[in-house]
Amino acid sequence: MSKTQIKLTVNGKAVETLVEPRTLLIHLLREGLSLTGPHIGCETSHCGACTVDLNGRSVKSCTVFAVQADGGEIVTVEGMANADGSLSPLQEGFMQEHGLQCGFCTPGMIMRAHRLLQENPDPSDEEIRWGLSGNLCRCTGYQNIVKAVKYAAKKINAREAAE
Ligand code: FES
Ligand code: FES
Repeated sequence: MSKTQIKLTVNGKAVETLVEPRTLLIHLLREGLSLTGPHIGCETSHCGACTVDLNGRSVKSCTVFAVQADGGEIVTVEGMANADGSLSPLQEGFMQEHGLQCGFCTPGMIMRAHRLLQENPDPSDEEIRWGLSGNLCRCTGYQNIVKAVKYAAKKINAREAAE
């Protein structure tokens, strides 16, 4: 099958690669770029394990063709740590509040929560539940995920108020 050249920015790095028209973004990320943080749960747009940020929006990368992301800016969970390598407030929140058990859903949860906090820096419990409703978790019962997002919101807002 013929391939198309695409250019992307992934976690701040310029990437130029050849993809087949049928290649899904999740497969490009995991198999082409060795970014295995985004997970494949359902491949039918239900579970959210493959969620990444594309041009400032949350997308389920199992339902985006790689060619559709041409020219775009992508952030995966691998791009979430602070510049010095320390955990971001969301990553820290998931750890401190026990927002994960098996961890399979966690990269997608963190990426969706990241966008949610950009859209709504101080969400209520209900807004967090609604904002993460496209991401499924089989282990936690969600309560600690909500606490993790609130932890991150508090930390980000305190840091911004101090600046
Ligand atoms: S793998 Fe993409 S939504 Fe489940
Ligand atoms: S922590 Fe296991 S699926 Fe969410």
